[in-house]
Amino acid sequence: MSKTLKFAVLPGDYIGPEVMEVALEVLKAATEPHGITLEYTTADVGGAGIDNHGKALPDSTLEVCKSADAILFGSVGGPKWESLPPKEQPERAALLPLRKAFSLYANVRPGLLFKELVDASPLKTERIPEGIDIVCIRELTGGIYFGQPKETKEVDGELQACDTMVYKVSEIERIAEVAAQTALARPNGKVCSVDKANVLETSVLWRKTVIEYFKKNHPDIPLSHMYVDNAAMQLARDPNQFDVLFTENMFGDILSDEMAVICGSLGMMSSASLGTGKNGHGQPFGLYEPAGGTAPDIAGQGIANPCAQILSAAMMLRYSFGLGDIATGIEQAVRKAVEDGIRTGDIAFGKESVGTKEMAAAIVERL
Ligand code: IPM
Ligand code: MG
Repeated sequence: MSKTLKFAVLPGDYIGPEVMEVALEVLKAATEPHGITLEYTTADVGGAGIDNHGKALPDSTLEVCKSADAILFGSVGGPKWESLPPKEQPERAALLPLRKAFSLYANVRPGLLFKELVDASPLKTERIPEGIDIVCIRELTGGIYFGQPKETKEVDGELQACDTMVYKVSEIERIAEVAAQTALARPNGKVCSVDKANVLETSVLWRKTVIEYFKKNHPDIPLSHMYVDNAAMQLARDPNQFDVLFTENMFGDILSDEMAVICGSLGMMSSASLGTGKNGHGQPFGLYEPAGGTAPDIAGQGIANPCAQILSAAMMLRYSFGLGDIATGIEQAVRKAVEDGIRTGDIAFGKESVGTKEMAAAIVERL
């Protein structure tokens, strides 16, 4: 059966284009034998958007995304644009509008550390003898990021700023369903919902809604609750006590970074942001991006780790194109390459390392 995958490719800045180029090669090698054709359009985003079109998310780029079934995103930002006002900086000015435009409410970030790479984690290896295998589900279009009012104004002769944290039951329920489905797809899946229900109204509603939703729809999935401050400690103490870590936007931003760092190299961390809308394949529209940044310090040298971008492309196949088997094939090939000792510098622990292209070639060989 021939099938065409139509997606937008937004490589972004610094190492973004380098790792994107090889990720597309891996994607092609993995799909071609199944009669699948890739039909992608590349567009500027982030600093490249600012330099070439005057803003981080150019209208022309948004149009490319609108006519696609998914977005494969690289990474954006860097020293060149750091002096811009925060609102115009590449990361914020590209990602937040994209999340809003496509209602990308569900952020899925695997916290995966292969056994072979435990030395890359800042945690003591005896805490994680088998590596780490958890996943963070973060609500992405609500809470304090987008709540109104959000403003700075003068009150009684001094400046005062305010952000507003808002959650509706429907927003909590739809992300609870993503957490539940994620747990169901994992062996012994269980969900820990993280909130601050001892202080925040939004968290009280969050917890109540999550309890009722699971009771009604997923009574068999083990569900627990934890305050966010405790969750931050527990992640550092014993990450594998979690399976699906499930939380609201701001807590998820912070906890997912903590999770990324305990999982060793940012060069291995993929992510998916899923929308409410269905694409031409009857699957959720989504944006897929590596969790690490643009790494300006190593850009242009051909040494960046492409695994996160490759694993993000695999997530795109799974979630937006319903090609879970091919996605698993790519994930296994990445794992095999790492097991076989093929490593970029960030995960080589001072031993012999390979470049971006060699790493990708080793993965293709193992598909
Ligand atoms: C992330 C980033 C973004 C966020 C920034 C760049 C707006 O930190 O994707 O985690 O805070 O969500
Ligand atoms: Mg973040």
